[in-house]
Amino acid sequence: MERQMLRYTLEEMDRMGELLLCEREVNPEYELGAVLKYFRNKRPILFNRVKESQVRVAGGLYGDRETLYRLLHMNHENRLFKFMEAIANPKPYRVIANGPIKENIIRRNIDLPKIFPVPKFQEKDSSNFITAGILVVKDPETGKYFTSVRRFQVNGRNELSALIASPKLTNDFLELEAMKKPLDIAIILGYDAPFLMASQISSATYGVDKYEVDSALRGEPLELVPCESVDLLVPAYSEIVLEGRMIPDKRRLEGPFGELMGYYGAQAPHPVIEIDTVMYRNNPIFQAAFPCREEHISNGLIREVELYSYLRNQVDVLDVNVTEGGGYRFNAFASINKQRAGDGKSAIIAALGSNKDLKQAVIVDGDVDIFDLQDIEWAITTRAQASQDLVIIPGALGSSLEPSHDLKGVTDKVGIDATKPLGERGIKFERAIIPGFENIDINRYFPNIK
Ligand SMILES: Cc1cc2nc3c(=O)[nH]c(=O)nc-3n(C[C@H](O)[C@H](O)[C@H](O)COP(=O)(O)O)c2cc1C
Repeated sequence: MERQMLRYTLEEMDRMGELLLCEREVNPEYELGAVLKYFRNKRPILFNRVKESQVRVAGGLYGDRETLYRLLHMNHENRLFKFMEAIANPKPYRVIANGPIKENIIRRNIDLPKIFPVPKFQEKDSSNFITAGILVVKDPETGKYFTSVRRFQVNGRNELSALIASPKLTNDFLELEAMKKPLDIAIILGYDAPFLMASQISSATYGVDKYEVDSALRGEPLELVPCESVDLLVPAYSEIVLEGRMIPDKRRLEGPFGELMGYYGAQAPHPVIEIDTVMYRNNPIFQAAFPCREEHISNGLIREVELYSYLRNQVDVLDVNVTEGGGYRFNAFASINKQRAGDGKSAIIAALGSNKDLKQAVIVDGDVDIFDLQDIEWAITTRAQASQDLVIIPGALGSSLEPSHDLKGVTDKVGIDATKPLGERGIKFERAIIPGFENIDINRYFPNIK
């Protein structure tokens, strides 16, 4: 179905008036990334002319919350429930014999830097990096498909190094490695929003087949074709597929690389992938994502589902925001309908337990807009007292993607209870309002004002 994957999505983005076409030639080294970064990766761009390459590049595709909602046919109010529904009720995918991805198949003399304009993003990056590739593997025990975005350092010709910060995937590879067996992989570029969202579900939490979650999310079976050289299925309408193997007993230095929080991640030995087949559509589009926090909104949306579920066990939760400034994983705001005196603190316990990466949580009442930083600041300033409302948990497990944790090996977690007291003492916290303010039409007073 040509309504799956990137090509159709670009048409949709064009219809929505969101897609920017760049007709000026761009250099994939720094310049392309600089243009993406200018729009903070929230504006989808199709670069039609890329220096020394015939291949077009699309970037900034899925960095904006509203655009993602529209592409997924959901809205802010129902998003958590739509994701939960798809995770709880996965649907079958469909295998078809052939698809556009097989229009070109290269099996010999593969030289990735020559075939595709793989960008180099930041000054001290060790090499060019594939940053939007979705890694596909099959669970060796259950045969379920596991997809995730990972970054791949291009080592030259057909060799990549992968950064995989996933205990499950790492263990699967280590178990195969102990038996001197490689792990079959495919890397997908040129996908659509449901494919991306399914890839962001933490396998450790749900253990589902992500191709089936994708099918549930898109409301029709994801159409897949068999790979040429590995025992995997891949989307029939994707733009580019790299097939290969993660090789046992082989490591290569990966990094430094400017990571999502804007710091350089250290160089370290990481597994090596050898690509033995490249498939791509006619006139392919290479997909890029500037490696920074805005593009991690898809990950944040799934973390919001986790956070909401954890909070729901303890309190009457209204909404959650896993924030962009916190890399869509380290910082969260939640609003609750406080019903019992300890609800604010219970919400902190639940929030900080929802994901090891989360290190800060602010809990507010329902009259605070958790997507407005000024409103959050106002709530903390006027409704919290540090001696009573700050909860600090020293020395917890955190994420190595956050340098203050990396330095110490563990992370402190902090929660702020910025909810107002209940009963008599809460009356003082009523917000002063002007009746009718929301509906005022300012043009009636100043006809020429913009
Ligand atoms: C744009 C983008 C880039 C990402 N890059 C990486 C990466 O380089 N390495 C990594 O381990 N996870 C990366 N992630 C996060 C994983 O894709 C995500 O955590 C995973 O799908 C969930 O599975 P896991 O819990 O097994 O990691 C990235 C996510 C996004 C949205």
